[in-house]
Amino acid sequence: MSHSIPPDIRCAQDYEALAPRHLAAPTFAYVAGGSGHDLTVAANRAAFGQWHIVPRLLRDVGTGNTRITLAGEDYAHPLFLAPVAFHKLVHGAGEIDTARAAHAVDACMITSTLASCTLEDVARAGGPQRWFQLYFQPQREATLDLLRRAEAAGYGAIVVTLDAPIQVASRGALALDFRLPPECVAASLAPYPAAAPAQLADGESRIFQGVMRSAPTWDDLAWLLAQARVPVWVKGVLHPDDATALRSAGVAGIVVSNHGGRSLDGAPASLDALPAIRAALGPDFPLLFDGGIRSGADIFKALALGASAAAVGRLQLYALSVAGALGVAHMMKLLLEELEVCMALAGCATVDQITASALQAKRTPC
Ligand code: FNR
Repeated sequence: MSHSIPPDIRCAQDYEALAPRHLAAPTFAYVAGGSGHDLTVAANRAAFGQWHIVPRLLRDVGTGNTRITLAGEDYAHPLFLAPVAFHKLVHGAGEIDTARAAHAVDACMITSTLASCTLEDVARAGGPQRWFQLYFQPQREATLDLLRRAEAAGYGAIVVTLDAPIQVASRGALALDFRLPPECVAASLAPYPAAAPAQLADGESRIFQGVMRSAPTWDDLAWLLAQARVPVWVKGVLHPDDATALRSAGVAGIVVSNHGGRSLDGAPASLDALPAIRAALGPDFPLLFDGGIRSGADIFKALALGASAAAVGRLQLYALSVAGALGVAHMMKLLLEELEVCMALAGCATVDQITASALQAKRTPC
């Protein structure tokens, strides 16, 4: 396990290129892969290539900064760590090291329900700004207990993920016979009984009457909102009508995301879904974005198209596998510096000044 930064890392995406040297092939396939035919994974990346950033001249950005205020909270910059399961898959210390890195670079880490360290241990290791990602559990008592534990551990917001009620396997990982190693368990879920497998009658569907019968509904979200003592965000929004309905239901913010292309294959790129959702919600509603970010320019484009802040998923596992906490902190620093370069050259002194007018759609050949 390496704890130094390899000299050939010059940008955040280099961690992606180096990760296969630090991970077994099935593990890399599991992390990198998406669902189905990887259409949405590819779309997420391709969407950023459809935009140019237009340089602006002679603007005074000498007092510039990347600070943002999101749902009433101040953050040093608009780069978050998206919830990602099982960090021990790629590094022995797991989420503890990611949390240390997040603290070092003043980033808000969103800890997954499926973290391989307990939410309490991650909270102790990390900085003051932390959110908890919640998956509804089969029993309401377990969901409520997780919520109360997250609140007690000082998580400032709950992000409930609603776009993945069915786990769709990655074909690449299946082909290489990927399995979670025994040390990779969802540590925070240890106290709760496992869900009993659905009993299906003849002719009933494994999906509809099986998995989806216990999937959360609007009633479950209303219940959660009534229980929570911290702001609740919803992750996995791609349709403007869902976005406005969620705002009406009382969520504090939404995460425009397609789960990194790991849920509904064929779903639009997160970046392509973003402008219509921002338009539907108006300029001020808190909106986090993820899906395909690999550079500071990508963050800039997401902010320009309506995101209040952006998050990286896979990059944190790649950096963690290559150089532990140091790698994650370094990867985040590289992204943030690239963002600052983009802002400076595009004449944006603050994140508020990054608007759609900073972008130009690439001309498609006739
Ligand atoms: C995820 N993601 C995810 N999301 C979530 O809400 N809860 C989770 O436990 C996980 N677990 C998870 C594991 C792995 C290996 C990956 C790659 C992703 C999705 C994640 O939060 C985010 O939406 C995407 O990763 C963003 O896309 P990029 O940055 O990976 O391209």
